[in-house]
Amino acid sequence: MELTKFLAVMAAVLPVAYGAPVEAANQLHPEILAAMKRDLGLDAEQATARVARELAATDVIENARRSTGDDFAGAWVARDGAAIHVAITNEARAAEVEAAGATPVFVRNSLTKLEQAKLALDGIDIDQVQTLDSTAEAVGVAAYFVDVASNKLVIEALPGSVAHAEGLAAQVGLADGEFEVVTVQEMPTTLALIRGGDPYYINRSARCSVGFAVTTGFVSAGHCGTSGSSATTSAGAALGTFSGSVFPGSADMSYIRAASGSTYTNAIAGASARITGSTVTAVGGSICRSGSTTGVFCGSVRALGATVNYAEGRVTGLTQTNVCAEPGDSGGSFYSGAQAQGVTSGGSGNCNSGGTTYFQPVNEILSTYGLTLVRS
Ligand SMILES: *[C@@H]1O[C@H](CO)[C@@H](O)[C@H](O)[C@H]1NC(C)=O
Repeated sequence: MELTKFLAVMAAVLPVAYGAPVEAANQLHPEILAAMKRDLGLDAEQATARVARELAATDVIENARRSTGDDFAGAWVARDGAAIHVAITNEARAAEVEAAGATPVFVRNSLTKLEQAKLALDGIDIDQVQTLDSTAEAVGVAAYFVDVASNKLVIEALPGSVAHAEGLAAQVGLADGEFEVVTVQEMPTTLALIRGGDPYYINRSARCSVGFAVTTGFVSAGHCGTSGSSATTSAGAALGTFSGSVFPGSADMSYIRAASGSTYTNAIAGASARITGSTVTAVGGSICRSGSTTGVFCGSVRALGATVNYAEGRVTGLTQTNVCAEPGDSGGSFYSGAQAQGVTSGGSGNCNSGGTTYFQPVNEILSTYGLTLVRS
């Protein structure tokens, strides 16, 4: 297309495309209207008016921010979006705020100082010590943010970490009146859904794969972590703590007890299979494996009760297969149809040229730790 024609087309199309969000705001989707009625108690007319006011508030705040410069200390909408409050650290700027169409609120702490303190916290490796001692107060720093309405840096901490949070505030140069520690009862999680074959991280470094969800956590390989090691998602959210682990020796198995907030499912990553039991497949039977490095690969069972000599020591009672696997697939699920078989231990080869992989039978893990597979 010639450049002039191309520009003409752009000119014809752009105004329509850019205009769309404004129109959308005025015509809220029926599902959004229903949710706003349910959660905010607004009828269709009120919801539409509120969304339009909030959209307009963005411009008012931006104008106030520009005209008050370093004295701007944040803004928020109040009274269902009807009032726009702009915080300033210099009362002489009140006229500018009013001219922009907002209500000035005089505050003491500069937004820059609070934002810089938050940035300094981002640079500190905050120890999130977890304990299995149920009598101890829960510890953890859950979140921190600048609360513009209170003009403070708010640090949310579990009851056992209030003093720690106060220390952190002092460490980043905040004095009384510049921060507030708010006690919360739970650490945030990413609403992790634990499935067989999904990745997890041990002590926030090495990666393994989930074997199978059990009603109180999940099972995986023993070489993935020793008792007391943490299991987290790639985003760092707590999944649980290794509560039992055997490797090498009679097994390569572990049980990770769940952290609160995790949801468990009998689904397997990358597979349509849903686990309904753990009936052992005979030698020669077909078998598939799901792991966080290579995904799903299948093959057949070659031998039961194999002894395998790893560099770390000998492991007995493993099942040999001709399914390939690679580092990081460790701990992941082996299954035949809907029957759980075991967790990936180790082997040789890779998924380009093929390989031999051993798995730890799942029934030994369930009976050793007294666990029940999630079946729905
Ligand atoms: C993980 O950390 C715990 C607690 O510090 C420690 O006991 C464990 O050995 C570590 N695990 C691994 C696999 O490094």
